[in-house]
Amino acid sequence: MPEYFSINGARRLEGQVTISGAKNAAVAIIPATILAGEPCILENLPQIQDVRSLQKILQKLGAQVEITAGGCMTIDPRGIQTRDATFPEISSMRASYYLLGAMLAAYGEVELALPGGCVIGARPIDQHIKGFRALGAKVYLDEDRNVLRAQAARLRGAEIFFDVVSVGATINVMLAATRAEGTTVLHNVAKEPHIVDTANFLNMMGATVRGAGTDEIRVHGTTKMRGCAYSIIPDQIETGTYMIAAAATRGDVIIKNVIPTHMEAVCAKLLESGARVMQGDDGKEFFLRVTQTERPRAVNVKTMVYPGFPTDLQQPMMAYLCTADGLSVITENIFENRFNHVKELRTLGASVNVNKRIAKVKGVSNLRGGDVYATDLRAGASLIVAALSAQGTTRVHNIGYIDRGYEYLEQKLRALGAELERVKG
Ligand code: EPZ
Repeated sequence: MPEYFSINGARRLEGQVTISGAKNAAVAIIPATILAGEPCILENLPQIQDVRSLQKILQKLGAQVEITAGGCMTIDPRGIQTRDATFPEISSMRASYYLLGAMLAAYGEVELALPGGCVIGARPIDQHIKGFRALGAKVYLDEDRNVLRAQAARLRGAEIFFDVVSVGATINVMLAATRAEGTTVLHNVAKEPHIVDTANFLNMMGATVRGAGTDEIRVHGTTKMRGCAYSIIPDQIETGTYMIAAAATRGDVIIKNVIPTHMEAVCAKLLESGARVMQGDDGKEFFLRVTQTERPRAVNVKTMVYPGFPTDLQQPMMAYLCTADGLSVITENIFENRFNHVKELRTLGASVNVNKRIAKVKGVSNLRGGDVYATDLRAGASLIVAALSAQGTTRVHNIGYIDRGYEYLEQKLRALGAELERVKG
């Protein structure tokens, strides 16, 4: 049996936890270093599977990539000769699609094995393709090989209106636009923190990107960018996961190295449920303190694009609301199929009824231990939150999904008093 987490639940989380670098910023910024054409140093990268996968992918393309123990990565893209990114590792992670924008801009051509959909939805990339074509690229889809080829002798600035607010398309087209002649204006863009972080990184490399985090992003193309050193922002979703786990275990946890403005929607929901959330700074960095002593009140949650409630925290939040007092209605507005964790929560005694994009969670007094199986990264996080609060022992399987996005999870949870063990299968 593959390795799994064994968790003895119903123990309050107490103490301090420090947040790592943001996965969804890291997986965009690492491919973006190709645009520099010179060595870059990235700090505060989370030591997670997705970062290690991108290291291997860039090395296979020909770049020199080293990761130090402290989560610092040096990347020298000058060794990249190939335009062929169709080897198997590419399809192993969805965020490899950022190579499209980076390599199209840096080399004028790229061939990429397409990421599949996944259990949370079809996850098409039509908006990415729309953006590249608007910039003057020829984009061909080889459906037999599931490969996308993009070519552009030169990219020209354009005005682009996305039909769908998409994090990936916003970032990918922003990458390509940094080397398009003239000005590109992107409308109906996503505003997540990792988009702003990627824009800041591009500007450190000599790009001119303005308006990231607002409804309109302007990019003035440049012919030359340079290497730089950059530190990744703290992970908004990891922060929210620990906030929710603290409340779900009726705990008292100080979460350090956070950006409070990124957490406003999550703070509001936890406060509405009866948790206490305090913000402070110790002179060096901001922290959030989450305390819950009572049974939470049921709340309704609607996932929205930033600054709304993040879809990536819908699954952990549901685990918390499984033992709330009353009926919580959760509406998943971003992905069409992001309730695969419900079946597993029911194994632990949850009472959840799903109809298309709406899950109705009828709070029970407590969850009980059992064997549950992660189906994706944040479903795994949901099962961890449920296991931490459940009476008895829970075994969470398929934890490879969880290792993709949470750095040092067992160490951080054990330091907060969790009884958790990674059992080698
Ligand atoms: C990013 O995925 C994140 N992944 C996801 O986090 C996150 O859930 C999502 O943004 C939303 O915040 C990374 O950043 C690596 P989208 P992405 O394009 O870019 C539709 C995690 O757990 N759409 O914003 O793929 C799409 O189907 C992961 O860390 C199109 O229709 O998400 C979805 O319904 C899971 N056409 C909606 O837009 C397109 O061309 C939002 O998707 C692109 C997207």
